[in-house]
Amino acid sequence: MGRLEGKVALVTGSGRGIGRAVAITMAREGAAVVVNDLGTGIGGDGQDASVAQLVVDEITAAGGKATANTESITDHAAAGRMVEQAIDTFGRIDIVVNVAGILRDRMIFNMSEEEWDAVSAVHLNGSFNTVKHAAVVFRQQRSGRFINFSSVSAWGSPGQPNYGAAKYGILGLTAVLANSMNRYGVTSNAILPYAATRMIDSTPRAQKVLEETGKLPSELAAGTEGDPFNVAPMVAYLATDEAQGINGQFFGVHGTQIQLYSHWEAAAAVKAEARWDPKALAEIFGETLGSHLELPEQQVVPGRDRPQRGTAVWQQDPSQWVALGPGVEVWTRTRYFDAKGQGA
Ligand SMILES: NC(=O)c1ccc[n+]([C@@H]2O[C@H](COP(=O)([O-])OP(=O)(O)OC[C@H]3O[C@@H](n4cnc5c(N)ncnc54)[C@H](O)[C@@H]3O)[C@@H](O)[C@H]2O)c1
Repeated sequence: MGRLEGKVALVTGSGRGIGRAVAITMAREGAAVVVNDLGTGIGGDGQDASVAQLVVDEITAAGGKATANTESITDHAAAGRMVEQAIDTFGRIDIVVNVAGILRDRMIFNMSEEEWDAVSAVHLNGSFNTVKHAAVVFRQQRSGRFINFSSVSAWGSPGQPNYGAAKYGILGLTAVLANSMNRYGVTSNAILPYAATRMIDSTPRAQKVLEETGKLPSELAAGTEGDPFNVAPMVAYLATDEAQGINGQFFGVHGTQIQLYSHWEAAAAVKAEARWDPKALAEIFGETLGSHLELPEQQVVPGRDRPQRGTAVWQQDPSQWVALGPGVEVWTRTRYFDAKGQGA
């Protein structure tokens, strides 16, 4: 029996890329799925109803349950209809996965108001729209799962002011939902994924891959670390009853590596008996808070163009990984056995 038997999920943007992999994986685990996708271009232009329907056909041909929804998540009332469609078609709604997304990349000094608004409307407002309508039902039924898609672009991707800000906003929304809806048995978590989809095809590095191989990254993704199906199992797991205790967390998923991000906490502090003035701050800043500054800008690492904060997991000493069983290893910032209180 699948881990999501009897559950009903709304997965936005599930006609393509990561959303499609999430919808298919959840259906394989027994969930009935509302496959929402407007079928837009990468920048949000145009629409194509066949995009969602193709995934529904794929799921039903494999014996699963799915229904297509081709409305836009930017429309608040339409998002309400997506939740209604789940209830009308399958009798309930248990899971909302906000995956739909577009890109309109531009440096801040070149960005138009329209480019800012279009990206915010899909990512941040779109996540609010589905969540709002489902939250009403989740509160009444005293259960539910929100899984929202963010991105490491929130750490400060230089050419993505609209996208980075929206993705940071989604982390904030996820944290608020975690704290406001948990009393009703609802959890909310965020995923910061990587997958070689058409979104990656639109980056400058993809053009290099095209020149070198004659193919775009998305065409080479199946079976590699960039396969969108690598992201889906963690999303499906978070949707299960077994994940009831996981709430308000941000998970990075890249290939078969799943990482838990630490939340913001104070790194250093100064205090004084009287109010600071700028001169006094200038005198003490450098040797106090100033010596702990973590620069948010993208580290320049050859072959990697993804923003990161601090030292990434892949840059850590390989000897710090501990074998858990055949083919499975674990790493934690405090060494694994230290964290378990058993000594390294
Ligand atoms: N691919 C990556 O490496 C990566 C990295 C970080 C974050 N993400 C995030 O993961 C999510 C999925 O990305 P992907 O790479 O699979 O993208 P994708 O372009 O392959 O798929 C996104 C889908 O969303 C749909 N969509 C867009 N606007 C919509 C709207 N208004 N209403 C309904 N559907 C709409 C599109 O038609 C498309 O099918 C996005 O939120 C993206 O920002 C992806």
